[in-house]
Amino acid sequence: MLLEALVFGLWSLTLKNMQLFDVYPLNDIEITKAAGSNVWDANGQKYLDLYGGHAVISIGHTNPHYVGRLTDQLSKVGFYSNSVKIPLQVQLAKKLGEVSGKKDFQLFLCNSGAEANENALKLASFYNSRKKVIAFTGAFHGRTSLAVAVTDNPKIVAPVNQTENVIFLPHNNEVALEETFKAQGNEICAVIIEGIQGVGGIKEASKSFLQKIRSLCNEHNAVYIADSVQCGYGRTGLFYSHDWAGVEADVYTMAKGMGNGFPVAGIAIAPKFKPWHGELGTTFGGNHLACAAALAVLEVMEKDNLIKNAEEVGNYLIAELKKFEQVKEVRGRGLMIGIELPEELAHVKKELLFKHFIFTGEAKPNVIRLLPALNLTRALADEFLGAFKKLVK
Ligand SMILES: Cc1ncc(COP(=O)(O)O)c(C=O)c1O
Repeated sequence: MLLEALVFGLWSLTLKNMQLFDVYPLNDIEITKAAGSNVWDANGQKYLDLYGGHAVISIGHTNPHYVGRLTDQLSKVGFYSNSVKIPLQVQLAKKLGEVSGKKDFQLFLCNSGAEANENALKLASFYNSRKKVIAFTGAFHGRTSLAVAVTDNPKIVAPVNQTENVIFLPHNNEVALEETFKAQGNEICAVIIEGIQGVGGIKEASKSFLQKIRSLCNEHNAVYIADSVQCGYGRTGLFYSHDWAGVEADVYTMAKGMGNGFPVAGIAIAPKFKPWHGELGTTFGGNHLACAAALAVLEVMEKDNLIKNAEEVGNYLIAELKKFEQVKEVRGRGLMIGIELPEELAHVKKELLFKHFIFTGEAKPNVIRLLPALNLTRALADEFLGAFKKLVK
């Protein structure tokens, strides 16, 4: 017995702990507390968060109404599947229709941006029974099968995701778009486009390009999918950044800001799409907690007029940043801002974080991305501008 225990003890010593699958280059920071536009690390150091964990924190960290609504919901029912009525989903659809100005649209709920795009493309293909999708250079639509196939980054497209059904065209090139529709219009299922490319470096689709997509989709019965996962949810001063073009898409996909950190995503679907049972589906999508989180976000956005704040503080930041002659270009709208820096200022992003304790995002090669909560104050914007000024001098 004793021998057996000894052998077992020695054997278990040789076992290793399970490791994380190492796919993320990490900053050596652990966040242990968060409130509004600030986070604190394990050593108590305070940071200004202009990244929002990648455009996710829309109403600020640990917003009291949000925490209250989620806590309250958790103590009642956290989850039940889509096999029963979930009135919170109906409330969410109503509120989303009101805040986004698309009351006649329908809502399908899922869990992530990629999943939203995947469902939107599938819906389009069911609708017109076609296969070809037009996507654009610089696009990022997610990492699942079809979402990654319409993403312009061959490095993350696995052989199994490769398909001949995707046509990549140059971004904002109306001639290329027209020619493609002219040549194969009756095969085009959908056009998918971000209102402002996020991962691609904060590059806005021009109004006339979005208008052209609308008219060509109308002409050829193709589906216009507005990927609003990063640029939507009020970030640019209108609910969907595509709204700036003054035309309506057929399907809007959304995720990041929708749940302020709780995983919830959705697609808003034009009335012409008629659903049938089993067409789309998900286990977790639209669960009670997800709906409570999404409702809390919309309630705070409405009550605190956050879309307007995003536009005002965003315009202020953009105008101030444009005054720096060291900056190559300032792009974006509202609180979705890209600051393109020359090579010699490539160090600024890291120094903002480690010298001035300000989180920002990045895009290759030298773009700093600002994606803060929509209730960022002017005072905090000034705090960033002060630090930025010191670093680019
Ligand atoms: C425009 C856009 N679409 C889709 C996605 C994918 O979202 P998720 O990571 O939630 O799958 C992202 C993520 O960054 C995105 O920026």
